[in-house]
Parts: sequence; structure tokens; C-alpha cells
Amino acid sequence: MIQSAVVPVAGLGTRLLPATKSQPKEMLPVARKPIVQYVVEELVSNGIQQVLFVTGRSKASIENHFDYDPELFQALTQANKQELLNDVDFARLKAQFFYTRQRMQRGLGDAILCGENFAGEEPFLVALGDSILGLNAVSRAVSRMADVFEAKRASCVVAVEEVPREETSHYGIVQPEQGGDDVFRVLNLIEKPAPEQAPSNLAIAGRYIFSPVIFDMIRRVKPDKKGEIQLTDAMQLLCDEGRRVMAVKLTPEEKRYDIGNFPSYFESFVEFALADPVYGAEFRRTLERLLAKKSAAV
Ligand code: UTP
Repeated sequence: MIQSAVVPVAGLGTRLLPATKSQPKEMLPVARKPIVQYVVEELVSNGIQQVLFVTGRSKASIENHFDYDPELFQALTQANKQELLNDVDFARLKAQFFYTRQRMQRGLGDAILCGENFAGEEPFLVALGDSILGLNAVSRAVSRMADVFEAKRASCVVAVEEVPREETSHYGIVQPEQGGDDVFRVLNLIEKPAPEQAPSNLAIAGRYIFSPVIFDMIRRVKPDKKGEIQLTDAMQLLCDEGRRVMAVKLTPEEKRYDIGNFPSYFESFVEFALADPVYGAEFRRTLERLLAKKSAAV
């Protein structure tokens, strides 16, 4: 059973500037909730009890979001807004939150290294703070990954999803031992390969389980051209040492919303807003009207 998660949220989010100038991209709203809230709710529903956020400068609003706010609590109580009170009462999640800072943004591998003391001798989950799995974060992928981690005595289990061949250069791509299965062993990982060099169209999808041996591997990784320590390189070292790295495929309902750039942010927002139980239907009509106006103008 995996009970601890490290959630890196320290990145600069340069692809989403100016929106991310002074607020974390993980706090951008997708329909009603900030991205990172979907992530935390998904983790908790998969049995995670402790969450360490690896934060950085300008990320204080993440800490505030999950904290108790006495003034807001009092105002909502006086106004008898029980539903809203439930929405902002994160004690209901029954998870403990911890925070640490990555001093310099030296890449995802370096951010994970900040979780070494937190993880101790236990295996732990890594969930990227800017990636939602499934519409409204309904995903059991982390639980399936934990089962595979235990059954296969793996050193790492990673979630993967199919991406279009021509887009492999945007992702970390895995080389499967055999193709086609929902669970398989990974032989190699290649960061952002050109389509003709990609060993598959299966991309690493923002959720990982690691044994603590990953910390030694991260320490052995040399910084890349941008000075960043890539987590993929540390995972490749696990493969090179003959340790078992497994992959679990996401189902179509667990589509990954990787909210790192504007096209994917816009798409995620619209998809979640369309699915909103109260405003979704009305928003659909608004969109249809706007689109009809646009095509009439063309
Ligand atoms: P990205 O690869 O999207 O990088 O990070 P980024 O720095 O946030 O964004 P750009 O490229 O400047 O637009 C993936 C996840 O890893 C975290 C980010 O916060 C995000 O959740 N991360 C990345 C860190 O915590 N530290 C880092 O040094 C880099």
C-alpha cells in the first residue's frame, strides 16, 4: 500500500506566462477548481494519506488553498452556506499536507530529491501538480500501479498513455519489452524523441511509484544542456542496472490533462466546464452559439 505522495509544484511555468507571473500554474482554475486540487483529490481517493508539496517562490497560494481559513469559515457559517463550507473544508480529505521548497528550479529530478527525508525507506508516489488524470480526476490508475509495484517487486512503476506518433517529441517515451498489454516491463526511456526515433507512442503520463533507490539514481544524473536534472534519466539508470521498471497504461477515461501550455489549458477548461453539473448545459449552448456566429462570419 502506497500512502505517501510527493507532488512537485516548483516549476516556473514559463509556457503559461503572463498568467503564471505571480501565481503558480498548478493554481490555475480548470472550471471550478484549481488544477492541484483535482490532483490531491485523485490521490486521496487512491489511498494516499500524506502529501509533500515541493514548492518554490510565488507558490504560497497552494499552501493557503489547503489551509483552514477562519474568516471564510465564519462568513460561510453565518450565511448558512453548508455546501460551500464542504467545498473548502479540506480536512474532509483526511490527508496530511507537508511543504518543502526547491531552492532553484533545477528540473523534476532535483525536485523529487527534495522528498528524500519525507519518503524515508518506503516506496512513494510522484504526481505532477500540473497533470489531471480523467475528467474530474476520476482515476484508479494509482491503485493499479501500486498493485503492480507490489506484485512485480518493481523499483518503479510509471503511468503511460498513447499519444499520436507525430507528437512523440513533446513527451518522455517508453520502450516496452512487449507491446500491446495494459501492464508491461520498460526496457528504456527516451526524453522527447523525434517520431522516427521513438521506440513506441507510449508517453510517461505524470504519475510514478518509486522505491527509495531512485534518490541514488537522481544523484548520479548529470544536468542536461539547460542545467536540469531529468527524472527520466534517473529512471533510465534503473533500467540500465537491470532493475524492474514497469508501466501501467491509462484507460481512455483516464485521459491525461497536461496543463503546461495554453492549447491544453484551454481544452481542459472547456471540457471540464462542459461537464459541469450545474452550468455545463448552458455553457454548451453558449459555445454552440459562439461557434455558429463564427462560421456565419467566415
Ligand atoms: P514542467 O516540465 O512543465 O516545467 O514541469 P515547468 O518549469 O513547470 O514549466 P515551463 O516548462 O517553464 O513552462 C512538470 C512538473 O514538475 C514541476 C512543475 O511544477 C510541474 O508540476 N517542476 C518542474 C518542479 O517542481 N521543479 C522543476 O525544477 C521543474
